[in-house]
Amino acid sequence: MDRRKFVKLCTATAALVAANPRLLAQTQTASTNTARVKLVDSSGQPIRASGLKQGETYLFHYPFAGTPCFLVRLPKPAGDTTVTYPDGREIIWPGGVGPDASVVAFVAICPHQLSYPSKSKSFINYRADTSEVAARSNVIVCCAHHSVFDPTAGGKVVAGPAPHALATILLQHDPSGDELHATGVMGIELFGDFFKAYRKELNEEFGRGQYKQEVTDSAVVRTLAEYTSEKFNC
Ligand code: FES
Repeated sequence: MDRRKFVKLCTATAALVAANPRLLAQTQTASTNTARVKLVDSSGQPIRASGLKQGETYLFHYPFAGTPCFLVRLPKPAGDTTVTYPDGREIIWPGGVGPDASVVAFVAICPHQLSYPSKSKSFINYRADTSEVAARSNVIVCCAHHSVFDPTAGGKVVAGPAPHALATILLQHDPSGDELHATGVMGIELFGDFFKAYRKELNEEFGRGQYKQEVTDSAVVRTLAEYTSEKFNC
C-alpha cells in the first residue's frame, strides 16, 4: 500500500472508530480505497436513500471502475453485527444506513469462484422474494454454485461453498439531503484475484486497463436489470 492510500485508510478508520468504539475490538481486514464517492443516477443527480425501492437490486462500480457492488434497501432496519472469517479474524459490520437504517451495500463478487454481474449476465443477485435454493427471502444468492449470503447480517454465508462473507461497502447517509456516499471497503474484497481472473472480460467491458481506474467523485447507480442482459435466479 502506498503512503497516500495508507493515510486515507487511517483517516477513514479513525472516523469509523469514533462513530463506533466497538471497532477497536476488531482486527479489520485491508481496505484498498477510501475515496468518498457520491452515489448518483444516470443523469448525475444524487440518489436519495428514501427513493430506493425495497426489493430492487441496484448496482454501482466502486472503488474501481470495474468492481461491481450491490446497493439494496432492505425491508427492515439492519443493526450492526460481528462477521467472523475462517482464520478467526473478525469485523464489526456497521449495519444499514438511511432514514430507516435499511440501506446496505456489498461487493458483488462471489468469494467462491468470483462470479460477478457483467453487462451480458449475472449469476449473483439479491432476492427480496423467496429463493428456491435458500428457501428464504432477503438473501443474496450466487446461482453459479448456490452460495447464499445474508445482506441483513453483514453478508455472512448462510449456505453453499463460499468460504467467507461478501465484502462490505461502507456507506454514509446525509440526512439533510438524503444523499448517499460510498466511503470504503471492509472485509476480504478479492479485487486482485478478480482482476487476474477476468482481465480479458474486464478489458472488453470497460476498455483496456480502465477497470483498474479508481472511482473518485461519483458512481452511477442503476438497477441490475438495467445493467445486465440476463439475470439468473435460483
Ligand atoms: S462462484 Fe458463487 S457459488 Fe461459486
